[in-house]
Amino acid sequence: MGVMDRYAVIGNPVEHSLSPIIHAAFAKQTQQSMTYTKILAPLDRFSETVLEFIQQGGKGANITLPFKTNAFTLATQHSSLAMQARAANTLVFGDNHSIFADSTDGLGLVRDLTHNHSFKIKKKTIIILGAGGACQTILGPLLQASPTVVHIANRTKQKAIDIAKQFSNLGSVHSLGLDEIEKSPYDLVINATSIGLTSNAVVWPSNIIDQHTWCYDLVYAKGDTSFISWAKTFHPAYCLDGLGMLIEQAAFSFYIWRGVHPDTQPIYKLLKDS
Ligand code: ATR
Repeated sequence: MGVMDRYAVIGNPVEHSLSPIIHAAFAKQTQQSMTYTKILAPLDRFSETVLEFIQQGGKGANITLPFKTNAFTLATQHSSLAMQARAANTLVFGDNHSIFADSTDGLGLVRDLTHNHSFKIKKKTIIILGAGGACQTILGPLLQASPTVVHIANRTKQKAIDIAKQFSNLGSVHSLGLDEIEKSPYDLVINATSIGLTSNAVVWPSNIIDQHTWCYDLVYAKGDTSFISWAKTFHPAYCLDGLGMLIEQAAFSFYIWRGVHPDTQPIYKLLKDS
């Protein structure tokens, strides 16, 4: 038997990443001969860590926080989605030291919404709360699905202005400060801030959600995130956390590496119920 192809998720922290479980399940299902491990990169040694992994025979990697921008910078070639996001969560290591960067997070979100939950993005009004890296990686695929409008609301308004400008050629996208959030409900409210897991200090106006609104937290947690708990008090149509997106973005990465798109439903059921 030949040497198995090696993949890994590289991040800091990385201990609690579900990616090894997800990719092991995909590999088993599609009969791919590969390993997938976790690698903790020191905060100041991202590039060195990736290059060491390549030397050890690594074929590709997922990159998680806080290195998605570093991954983009390190790569020698970029997909159009990575170029849009200026960040990468998937690397492919080729011959002659080439490193190809792609971004599958936004595709994962859109696929989870549209394929797994039959939500139609076309002609919907969307607000994204937060204008950091997470917002930047989902915006391209969301706008390509033709919503009526995407509003980006952020505590630091300048960051929302910058992102809206960067994506303005892809559709109707506008920036808001927190005090400018419209006093009417949206079809889809996405939490892209980093406060979903840790803080109870939710600062969003209540009237952005009504009974027909879908709420999506990009973060995943056992039980409800603080954003989902808050959103539920307004009885929205649907509340989803980021588990579906996590699994779907992994499936797109797997496809980039192995050329086969796994069925995501079995692993979703397994992790949701565990
Ligand atoms: P990520 O890459 O995960 O998106 P990030 O770039 O650090 O992380 O962005 C975090 C986002 O959460 C930002 O939009 C941040 O708002 P600022 O740009 O004003 O910093 C937002 N955020 C974090 N804590 C927040 C809080 N307590 N209230 C409102 N927004 C918050």
